[in-house]
Amino acid sequence: MSNTHIKGITNLGQWVTWNPKKQLMEVGTGGTWLMENGLFSEYSPKSFTDQGFLNAQGQLMTPGLIDSHTHPAFASTRELEFEMRSQGKTYQEIAEAGGGIRNSVRKLREISESELADLVETRLNLMLKHGTTTAECKSGYGLSTEAELKSLRAIKTASNRTPLQTFSTLLGAHEVPDEYRDDRNTYIDIIINDMIPKISQENLAEYCDVFCEEGVYTTEETEKILLTAQEHGMRLKFHADEFVSSGGAELAAKMGALSADHLMAISDAGIAALSESETVATLLPGTTFFLGSSTWAPARKLIDAGVTVALATDFNPGSNMSLSMPFILTLAVIYLHMTPLEALQAATSGAAKSMGIEKDTGSISPGFQADAVLWKADNFRQLPYFYGSNQVHQIVVGAKPIL
Ligand code: NIG
Ligand code: FE
Repeated sequence: MSNTHIKGITNLGQWVTWNPKKQLMEVGTGGTWLMENGLFSEYSPKSFTDQGFLNAQGQLMTPGLIDSHTHPAFASTRELEFEMRSQGKTYQEIAEAGGGIRNSVRKLREISESELADLVETRLNLMLKHGTTTAECKSGYGLSTEAELKSLRAIKTASNRTPLQTFSTLLGAHEVPDEYRDDRNTYIDIIINDMIPKISQENLAEYCDVFCEEGVYTTEETEKILLTAQEHGMRLKFHADEFVSSGGAELAAKMGALSADHLMAISDAGIAALSESETVATLLPGTTFFLGSSTWAPARKLIDAGVTVALATDFNPGSNMSLSMPFILTLAVIYLHMTPLEALQAATSGAAKSMGIEKDTGSISPGFQADAVLWKADNFRQLPYFYGSNQVHQIVVGAKPIL
């Protein structure tokens, strides 16, 4: 069946989705979701026995999950740093000693574009197996025009080889590379005058992101870089207020960014600024967990302030080596005190909004991309509840079953 469009998914058990017309999460039971030309067309309460339908056999269906913040373009894993953290070193101490992102940069510069594309492809396929049908993929371990181009081209090549839909982000300002530690302004000039123009000319990135954090990029530097990106047609994303509240969320809101991500240390002023903007708060509890921290992003405060929340993995070799969105749902329920339904909304329609694709992705509704997951589960509450094993039964992307 794998290369043909299906006519729909029938014999549904529970199905759960954001309803864009009603602007709420909807829980339905039974029947069939019909598909046409790779899109959902309509819901029928009937079941169909004709050929061309996928039989859900009463299983739970959700939209395909959207991982809206990942760093899959890296060359080597960093398990030694993981061990060092378990023995008391902090993420920042390891970074200051030349480890962390700069460790990954040295390794990435050594491998070829095609080797990198193979690595990214493997990771995208693993995401898919865990229920992710759309992912945002960042560069950021190259930190030179040439190595950032290599990373974004590798992401594109890998993406073309898998059914998973990807959108790319230039993260040239992920760190200051070794060779410019004493001359950071020259590196910022390179990002502005060379990297962004070349990447935009090759159409390699939909978004631009900056690690706006104490000890990395200041809010002034972030604004300068992102204004240039905006002029080149890229939409904006932020690594903001991860460890220290430094005004990142406020700047994201002011600049009309699609999202401000991390926010473990966001201030009340940052929450207020997001609540008056359309900027999505993307929360990454896998990172808090993997760093052994107990400072969780204030999800309830953000939700109560009316901010749209997205959940994502932040998959990367340093601060979260997991690409499982279902595990993120579990963490969100336990530590962010989100309900299972809020978590599912954040991993689908909230995430779609954080990527500017909410008009056609992230919902089981007429006219939306027919991306869905059938789960070995009876109801949506079982997704975060039964953690640590993969409950995915079948993935459908653009009306094609792929597992
Ligand atoms: O999102 N915070 C910055 N960047 C990544 C970590 C990258 C790394 O350690 O390799 C993150 O957590
Ligand atoms: Fe990140």
